[in-house]
Amino acid sequence: MSQEKIIEILSNIKEPVLGKDYVTLDFVKGISLNGKNLTLTLGITEINDEIIKKATDEVTSEFRKKMPEINIKDLKFTIGITEHTDAKKKSIMPGIKNTIAIASGKGGVGKSTIAVNLAVALAKEGAKVGLIDADIYGPSIPLMFGINKKPGVTKVGEKSMLVPLERYGVKVMSIGFLIEDKSAVVWRGPMASSALKQFIGDVVWDELDYLLFDMPPGTGDIQLTLSQTIPLTCAVIVTTPQDISLADARKGYVMFERVNVPTMGIIENMSYYQNPDGSREYIFGKGGGQRMSEEFNVKLLGEIPLNMKIREGGDQGIPVAEGDSGSEVTGIFKRIAKDTIREINLMNVKNSEDQGLVIEI
Ligand SMILES: Nc1ncnc2c1ncn2[C@@H]1O[C@H](COP(=O)(O)OP(=O)(O)O)[C@@H](O)[C@H]1O
Ligand SMILES: [Mg+2]
Repeated sequence: MSQEKIIEILSNIKEPVLGKDYVTLDFVKGISLNGKNLTLTLGITEINDEIIKKATDEVTSEFRKKMPEINIKDLKFTIGITEHTDAKKKSIMPGIKNTIAIASGKGGVGKSTIAVNLAVALAKEGAKVGLIDADIYGPSIPLMFGINKKPGVTKVGEKSMLVPLERYGVKVMSIGFLIEDKSAVVWRGPMASSALKQFIGDVVWDELDYLLFDMPPGTGDIQLTLSQTIPLTCAVIVTTPQDISLADARKGYVMFERVNVPTMGIIENMSYYQNPDGSREYIFGKGGGQRMSEEFNVKLLGEIPLNMKIREGGDQGIPVAEGDSGSEVTGIFKRIAKDTIREINLMNVKNSEDQGLVIEI
């Protein structure tokens, strides 16, 4: 009885970032009532002092009004991640809440670097994260994660499934774990697409909040096939400030638009080099990411400097996002991870509202 009443009250309190109630969002993570003492754990889109204070005030005042007999002994907040509701995604990967393609038109702009660091930073925020190296022509995830092993195999019913390798709190799968001589395989479009399908369907991912795809460069047929193979929540486009890279990034945006995948954000990489005295040099030009963001009305998620630690982290298999949170670059990836969680939550809430708009005739 009390339990029902508690849920009823929570169904009337809105999570401050998304403006939807905790029950609808599936953000009621724990209720434990011991006599008059209530311990409550709720999901929230962003954990910062201001938002936690607002949420705490709202919850305590509602309970004081509607259930004055109980005492909220402990009110905890954990990261709340909503699910992208999509029928195709649900049938292919039921335990996976959201899928994100990290893409760009060009190679060498830092997609893999960003995919790896974003995955690690999301895991540090408390999300369950997986990463698929979809760049089966030039897999870089094994090196960037410092993994030199083969994934295990397990039986699920009759079927043999691969067990993803796990590091820095991220489950990863790459063709690089499976083939000895990378030059031996010449992939054609359909083969690439079926290899990717296996990484989705024949791997034990369990439950994931985010599955990231480190995409191969380009916007040709293969990329298009891949984008259609994976039921994507959204794309994140990586570009450098240079015109030539931006031109390709625009093509990337248009390609995803053609297959109805929204671009959630743009990340500008190699934005500047910071001298020891704090002054900045704009080696590849300035403000390109910002201009593209305005042109397409897509959020600029971040501007990442050209930084030796980022390159070294990639080569040594220890992503900078894993490093100490006081460092500037680690902080940038942390900010991007927080924004990613918020933007995707907002997108999912909007989607489910749109889907709820059924017009009956
Ligand atoms: N912001 C950065 N600062 C320094 N080096 C970087 C940065 N971003 C990427 N790199 C380096 O540039 C190279 C290419 O990056 P990579 O992520 O493999 O690009 P892509 O996946 O787009 O081909 C790698 O050696 C990587 O370590
Ligand atoms: Mg790459």
